[in-house]
Amino acid sequence: MKSVRFHRFGGPEVLEIEEVPEPRPGPGQIRIAVRAAGVNPIDWKKRQGLMGGKPPQSLGQDAAGVVDQVGRGVVDVSVGARVFGFSATSSAQSELTIMSEYEPMPPSLSFEDAAALPTAIETAARALDETGVEKGTVVLVNGASGGVGSSSVQLAVARGAHVIGIASPANHDYLRSLQAEPVAYGEGLVDRVRALAPEGVDVALDLAGNGVIPDLIELAGGTERVLTIADYEQARKYGVTFSDGKGGRAVHILGEIGELIEDGRFALPVARTFPLSDVAEAHRTSEQGHVRGKLVLLVR
Ligand SMILES: NC(=O)c1ccc[n+]([C@@H]2O[C@H](COP(=O)([O-])OP(=O)(O)OC[C@H]3O[C@@H](n4cnc5c(N)ncnc54)[C@H](OP(=O)(O)O)[C@@H]3O)[C@@H](O)[C@H]2O)c1
Repeated sequence: MKSVRFHRFGGPEVLEIEEVPEPRPGPGQIRIAVRAAGVNPIDWKKRQGLMGGKPPQSLGQDAAGVVDQVGRGVVDVSVGARVFGFSATSSAQSELTIMSEYEPMPPSLSFEDAAALPTAIETAARALDETGVEKGTVVLVNGASGGVGSSSVQLAVARGAHVIGIASPANHDYLRSLQAEPVAYGEGLVDRVRALAPEGVDVALDLAGNGVIPDLIELAGGTERVLTIADYEQARKYGVTFSDGKGGRAVHILGEIGELIEDGRFALPVARTFPLSDVAEAHRTSEQGHVRGKLVLLVR
């Protein structure tokens, strides 16, 4: 089967589509024929060697497709079911992948829409769970227009929170459409947020990693309810939570998102799709860092 791989760290040119042996599902696992696979910043971070490990490596956390084999003990899905979820081997960008965390696809979604979801919604739900976002919480989201950002804004609004989103001006109308109040990045950020929330905010989430942790601490009145998913160094330096899922992942959201989607309360836009053969171009686009929503590879 075909699979996206790289044999040395480097730029997008190191990516190859290779023939590799077909995987087999173990007990409790399924194998899917991948129809679409999500692209995430972790793909190009791995390719650059920023995430550790040694080459060769495969890529892809998120996939949607059709179950073609089930392992021993699997009773919740059958061959032919349309599912979405996490590749158990971080090799979603392949013709076949193995999953142990998956759910039936929400009926109204295409394969590409479903493949956009898993990492974005799991990370968003985890950030909201870890900071205790609930009805009435005032939440500041830095990096609100990206994949995790769009998801965090909508899931927070669905919980009844009030959301202020930081994004480039070109994304402000988009954030309004998600029911967040937009503010711009850069100099004067604290004053702009205070103009909307004079008492400060209850929770501040950094999803962009652009060095704003001191501002977020000031606005949240301390470190306790400030969380970053993208700035390990500032998290350590200022004593705020860095969330990477090692303390538990919010996989519960895979089973909950369908209801929000079918109710019209959640949508994660697919900004652009690419054939698998254009994976290098997908990396270049993701690395530029200003995608509104998600990038998705069409596998077959
Ligand atoms: N720790 C974890 O568990 C975990 C999980 C998933 C993702 N992540 C990390 O979280 C980050 C976001 O992931 P994602 O999938 O949402 O990425 P994404 O879809 O590429 O979105 C990135 C967002 O960051 C904003 N941005 C880009 N450059 C910026 C800058 N210089 N200053 C401020 N904002 C900037 C962009 O907003 P504008 O276009 O509006 O500027 C964009 O919407 C990545 O670093 C990713 O690796 C971590």
